Amino acid sequence: MPKKSSRAARPPKARTSGQSASAADNKSLHGETGKTADLASDTVEPGEVLTGNQGVAISDDQNSLRAGPRGPTLMEDFHLREKITHFDHERIPERIVHARGAAAHGVFQVYEDLSDLTMAGLLTDPSRRTPVFVRFSTVAGSRGSTDCARDVRGFAVKLYTDEGVWDLVGNNMPVFFIQDAIKFPDLIHAVKPEPNNEIPQAASAHDTFWDFVSLTPESAHMLMWLMSDRALPRSFAMMEGFGVHTFRLVNAAGKSRFVKFHWKPIKGVKSLVWDEAQKISGKDSDFHRRDLFEAIERGDYPEWELGLQIVEEKDEFKFDFDLLDPTKIIPEELVPVRRVGRMTLNRNPDNFFAETEQVAFHTGHIVPGIDFTNDPLLQGRLFSYIDTQLRRVGPNFAELPINRPLNPVHNNQRDAMARVTINKGRVSYFPNRLGGGCPMHSPEAADAFVSYAEKVDGAKIRARSDSFSDHFSQATQFWNSMSDWEQEHIADAFSFELNQVENEEVRHHVMNELLVNIADALAQAVSAQTGIRVARVGTSKNPTPSAPTPSGPLRAEAKDLSSPALSQDKPGDTIKGRRIAILGGEGVDAKQLKAVADALLAEDAVVELIAAHAGTIADSAGKAQKVNRAAANAASVIYDAVVVPGGASAAALAKSGLAIHFVNEAYRHGKPIAAIGEGSVLLEACSLGEAGAKEGVIIGGDAKAIDGLIAALLQHRFPRRPIKGVPA
Ligand code: HEM
Repeated sequence: MPKKSSRAARPPKARTSGQSASAADNKSLHGETGKTADLASDTVEPGEVLTGNQGVAISDDQNSLRAGPRGPTLMEDFHLREKITHFDHERIPERIVHARGAAAHGVFQVYEDLSDLTMAGLLTDPSRRTPVFVRFSTVAGSRGSTDCARDVRGFAVKLYTDEGVWDLVGNNMPVFFIQDAIKFPDLIHAVKPEPNNEIPQAASAHDTFWDFVSLTPESAHMLMWLMSDRALPRSFAMMEGFGVHTFRLVNAAGKSRFVKFHWKPIKGVKSLVWDEAQKISGKDSDFHRRDLFEAIERGDYPEWELGLQIVEEKDEFKFDFDLLDPTKIIPEELVPVRRVGRMTLNRNPDNFFAETEQVAFHTGHIVPGIDFTNDPLLQGRLFSYIDTQLRRVGPNFAELPINRPLNPVHNNQRDAMARVTINKGRVSYFPNRLGGGCPMHSPEAADAFVSYAEKVDGAKIRARSDSFSDHFSQATQFWNSMSDWEQEHIADAFSFELNQVENEEVRHHVMNELLVNIADALAQAVSAQTGIRVARVGTSKNPTPSAPTPSGPLRAEAKDLSSPALSQDKPGDTIKGRRIAILGGEGVDAKQLKAVADALLAEDAVVELIAAHAGTIADSAGKAQKVNRAAANAASVIYDAVVVPGGASAAALAKSGLAIHFVNEAYRHGKPIAAIGEGSVLLEACSLGEAGAKEGVIIGGDAKAIDGLIAALLQHRFPRRPIKGVPA
């Protein structure tokens, strides 16, 4: 019979309802064990005896019941029918957006009591360890699509607080394409594969997306983020998260302040490059999912600090953008990000479907002390997520183990498909006398959620505030804030995408209604790579704007805006989790191999020995060395750096097409390359010219090369290398 999980004990007390652990349980279950123990009550280990779903032991699960060994299958075979019909129903609809994702469990802890800002318990009690479940995702692709598409990444955090579940459903970019939720179906229809042929998968590089955005100038700022390397994260652990909208924090005295939520990765913000990302999509389309899973399994727990940007109510109108406009950031230089707590992801899900697939996020899952603003995108999301969960997971989605809160749930909602809770008693209405008036509204003293009493008074209209009409200043600010190579990558990305667009009119409008309003240098660079003529709208060459919404005046001062915090051109302070390839073979220098591996492992990097075949090779001392990957299975794109030790293997590698390609490709993607001793012959065989003179290419005896390699890995990449002419 299936056994209950032995990994974590059941909650110590029986539940007061089938839906959640009791309040008393929760008090003793603070921290990561709280949700782990809660899930354990529904987690089973593989059993010894095979049974059907009614618990009856099955004698033969491999032969259907037949009329004779060669005869027809009998209707009577209840086990065959149960097994196959269950299989036939195994899928639920994939998410309409963010279908591709991966998730992990963890914990959040605030550094200090923030009760001056909020009454939210998870932000006021530094001793509390709030369990979290975080799902990262791409937006456009289907559930089976590649992790490394150029796309926004979802960063959805479910916090199981003592006062109920809070979902901070954010992205890895702080702004969005549109200002009003009513446009969301249009945006998604435009970016998803085109409806006639369902092409292309997980890509914005096609006509319908660029057609839509060319007519939607409010998307300009978000397009800059999407075309930047932020859309190509190296790892989920190396990307920022943002709540995007302006929210409110409300303290116990009822005072409200505006807040933007940030997640700052401890490993820093690091990205792939586009050619590399495309190749990874073929070589390992699970690249990010695998990275997250393996990192947690080896104890390299992804971590972020929660950051808050606080704006006093009285300062609501002091900015030259509207705080309610989700296409705008508050530059960190204007309002610093205060780091208030830490989130650590420390446990992989046991079951992808039960946890990662069935987790149901909703911006409306909120707790006392946090509240909404009138951001029209947020307002629409508040409607959309509950609706989509009812359709995708079902009306009792909140009862599922991964979704249920840790504190008790009591209300008069009843029944519906797949109800788990067995509600006792005859009363399922309010008000009632027969149930003693229970469950009753929480008295104020019980920390009930009370909406912030914002005064609202306005005519019923379909219109946007004029304060939402400057679509370009912050796009220009983003461009100005980038380093030279980041700007080059952005221009290359626009060019790549527009070169995929067939319709000349669409290409023309993107250039002449979007790019020219962002930065001349950007427009010129894209024009040179796409052949699209720069002919600014409103000039005699191009008099008619096509956008139905005003594109807004280009503020003269925008050309001077800059927010250096936006650039990722900063060295890191750890190489933890970076994956380094050591190219070896028979006779590889034993001492050098050990020295480089030990030094990298001491920095918590991941080291893999690659050789012509899997199994083992003999090093120069005749000792067997385990090969982690055969050369044909090891693409340079899945590594952060490459090392070539000396020994007899070096000369053989210098004649190997795979090895030469490996090094050239790593070079092209800006990765550190180190050769120790005779290992330099492979570099000479590559098109690296004077290898030692190139940035991030290190040649030396072991100690020098190893120190140089670690220093180069802290730089992450060397994106200024000349790569024209590199054959990879
Ligand atoms: C700032 C803008 C937005 C952000 C940051 C955002 C973020 C996310 C994230 C992270 C997910 C994936 C949740 C998961 O991992 O399960 C998601 C899913 C989804 N979003 Fe959004 N979204 C935004 C705008 C919108 C808007 C405007 C709508 C609709 C009006 C919308 C509708 C949906 C829907 C329907 C899902 C699928 C949910 C599911 O099936 O679980 N989103 N969004």
